[in-house]
Amino acid sequence: MTDNSMNGPLIDVRDANLFLKSGESSLHILNDINFQVMPSEVVAIAGPSGSGKTSLLMVLSGLERATSGKVVIAGHDFSGIDEDELAILRRKNLGIVFQNFHLIPSLTAFENVMLSLEIAETGMSLAEMRDTARQALEEVGLGDRMTHLPSALSGGEQQRVGLARAMVTKPHLLLADEPTGNLDQDTGAKIIELMFNLARKHNAAVIMITHDPSLAARADRRLSMNRGQLTDAPGADAE
Ligand SMILES: Nc1ncnc2c1ncn2[C@@H]1O[C@H](COP(=O)(O)OP(=O)(O)O)[C@@H](O)[C@H]1O
Ligand SMILES: [Mg+2]
Repeated sequence: MTDNSMNGPLIDVRDANLFLKSGESSLHILNDINFQVMPSEVVAIAGPSGSGKTSLLMVLSGLERATSGKVVIAGHDFSGIDEDELAILRRKNLGIVFQNFHLIPSLTAFENVMLSLEIAETGMSLAEMRDTARQALEEVGLGDRMTHLPSALSGGEQQRVGLARAMVTKPHLLLADEPTGNLDQDTGAKIIELMFNLARKHNAAVIMITHDPSLAARADRRLSMNRGQLTDAPGADAE
């Protein structure tokens, strides 16, 4: 990531639309999205099921390409770069917590987190990576589950491995899709603390999709997605 990106917005989305094919017809999934996020800003997005929240995260991560409009992340215009460059950008700068975890089933919790560090090319030694991965799992309360395969973990535990994997590289941008959706209140509160720490200590921007009002209340900004349109949440503070 280039350092000059720190002066401007980390995310700059202009008039972005996403159409997806469904059989013969084309569905308008994201409708003229305009969205800017500064480094270290924490933004919460709520909205009904099927409104396009996950699709927006896919577009922000480059896993889905906007059909039209501009998506610029950390100064990189996604329309001008190919899949390989996108993948490099992603693994160096982005942490993604998927709604359905997407852990690698044949790897243990520890190995899932290690893999994230290995591909991020942090310059750490193997010993440093192992310590860092272990610490990340301890922080999410899974110090005693490191050698478990995902299939031997509960949904909430898998979600926490997903969080550890996404945060272990200290990404500039964390995209989290209902990150506390499978957690009890106490565990959720701990995880929220870790995400806010990442924003504060490491200047990371955090975009989280959440229906948890106590989580949304702590964000710097609250937005709402409705039928593919992103607007300020009702009652949200003006800038
Ligand atoms: N691959 C796909 N092909 C066609 N339609 C899709 C695809 N993925 C999601 N959709 C549709 O896009 C809309 C938004 O989905 P999604 O972004 O997952 O919503 P949310 O996360 O807000 O529940 C839904 O109507 C969903 O059915
Ligand atoms: Mg979703």
